[in-house]
Amino acid sequence: MCGIVGYTGYRNAYNVVINGLKRLEYRGYDSAGIVIENKDGKHNVAKTKGKVEDLLAISQSSEYSGNTGMGHTRWATHGVPSDANSHPHVSNNGKIALVHNGIIENYDSIKILLIEKGFTFKSETDTEVLVNLIQYFEESQADLDFVSCVRYALNEVYGAYAICVMHQDHKGEFVVARLGSPLAVGIGKDEFFIASDASPFVEFTKDALYLEEGHIAHISLKDGIEIRTITQNEPVQPAIQELKLSLEQIEKGGYEHFMLKEIFEQPKSIHDTLRGRLLVKEETIKMAGIWDHLERFSKAERIIIIACGTSWHAGLIGEYLIEEFARIPVEVEYASEFRYRNPIITNKDIVIAISQSGETADTMAAIKLAKEKGAFVYGICNVVDSSIARITDAGSYTHAGPEIGVASTKAFTAQLTILSLIALKLGKHNGSLSNAQFMELITELDAIPKKVQEVLENTHEICKVIAKEFAHTTNFLYLGRGFNFPSALEGALKLKEISYIHAEGYPAAEMKHGPIALIDENMPIVIIAPKVGHYDKVVSNVQEIKARKGRVIAVVNPTDTQVRSQADYSIEIPMVNEAFSPILAAIPLQFLAYHIALIRGANVDQPRNLAKSVTVE
Ligand code: M6R
Repeated sequence: MCGIVGYTGYRNAYNVVINGLKRLEYRGYDSAGIVIENKDGKHNVAKTKGKVEDLLAISQSSEYSGNTGMGHTRWATHGVPSDANSHPHVSNNGKIALVHNGIIENYDSIKILLIEKGFTFKSETDTEVLVNLIQYFEESQADLDFVSCVRYALNEVYGAYAICVMHQDHKGEFVVARLGSPLAVGIGKDEFFIASDASPFVEFTKDALYLEEGHIAHISLKDGIEIRTITQNEPVQPAIQELKLSLEQIEKGGYEHFMLKEIFEQPKSIHDTLRGRLLVKEETIKMAGIWDHLERFSKAERIIIIACGTSWHAGLIGEYLIEEFARIPVEVEYASEFRYRNPIITNKDIVIAISQSGETADTMAAIKLAKEKGAFVYGICNVVDSSIARITDAGSYTHAGPEIGVASTKAFTAQLTILSLIALKLGKHNGSLSNAQFMELITELDAIPKKVQEVLENTHEICKVIAKEFAHTTNFLYLGRGFNFPSALEGALKLKEISYIHAEGYPAAEMKHGPIALIDENMPIVIIAPKVGHYDKVVSNVQEIKARKGRVIAVVNPTDTQVRSQADYSIEIPMVNEAFSPILAAIPLQFLAYHIALIRGANVDQPRNLAKSVTVE
């Protein structure tokens, strides 16, 4: 969702900002814009509906040379994607330029007041209201400095924002602020970078600070960084940290798409998630986050998992894992529903919040609610130092590395890996698992990265063949049972997201309660059917589908004969304990979605309308 990049220093700001915007493309957007301060302090603005390439086409002239500038990729909230609604927005007097990620919820009432005072508006956006509110404070309270004008304006609005502001009378300076949306500042020698995440400046500096919730900073080459709280104006000490991110991690490394690269990275990302935690020789699992709170987890009457999208699917598998191995009751909720339905939560509950980005607005709000009600909140995030990682009471990182493709792949399997570790650790600790069971399970989990490698090698080609056959169908059903019911949901979501084919996931047994009506010779059905759990029942489901001429694509184990003999296509994954089979099953479903999308000519890494981190509700 919206990306912000800013630069002030000695380099060509246009190049830094444009390249930075390209790095943020993965977040999802529909328009782009830039403002460059020229040597006289004048702002030159270019903005357009479309992609950064379209912006390049309209901003090549020498007007855009200078050492300070900022840019923005917009994901439309208020108003359609259009040139006028694109950022930066400029105040009526032309002096202040502002880019914004988030939503100003009370913009309508402020706009009415500003119109009464003579302000005019060119766009439908909430952002243009904010930039004019800053001008209003500057004109009506002569003693306020630049940063105070922005602070006063922010104290009048509510909603979520990360903003970056430039002023023609304050050359080489930025005022930045955040509430609910992330903002990072890169600190180089005689230069500063502003960005929604560190990827736009990773090759320039390793020193960064992440602006905290409710903070505003004044950044200038002359005076450095000065941070204050937005509401109280209290000074805050900048907390500079060293970036762990590297340039290679955020480049495609020879793959056609980030999504394909990330699918192939899964043996490593799962291995990295297990590393130092799963210690088979020592017969233990060591996870700092859980280790420190084992007693609290053991006494929990209930665990509630909250998440959205793919992370919610991981949560559903987490429910099966924790109930199976640790025998603690688990409920899984969409964060967006949980936060608005007055849930019953007590201080005996543990809430596990799962989020790849660590910035999802609904999940953030649900965490805040759970904390207010006294629950202990444990976070599972992929992005280090993300907002969710910071507001939770404890947690574990998934160590999948940066995930750039909008469709989540390696982060999902890393989430399953962490949830497996948590379930096994709790099961061992509370005695639900015997030592022998625990050892058998951790030995199997330890072998998963190797098995994932086998799946990658053995299923890619067959998935390409299947994709060719089904790329132009309009509907898909995905079915699975037990641990693989959520796998079916995730497979369907992957296909929908990137190929725009309508797909539904169901527990296989639910088929006869409705979806069976859809089955005919035009309906492909992906069925996840490892020889574990309720395999016999799945065999019956396949028979029911074939009796209605449905086309079956089955994910099976090598020793399977019954499903394979009826399926139109079979994809083999190695035999593994049912609890870990969703990790292996995820891979051919990712391949299938990827190759179908590719054949349909869809933008695999940046699917239409989707954002990588959904920072608005
Ligand atoms: O960053 P999060 O895990 O909190 O994101 C949640 C969902 O927005 C995300 O999983 C979404 O469904 C992805 N596009 C899935 O591929």
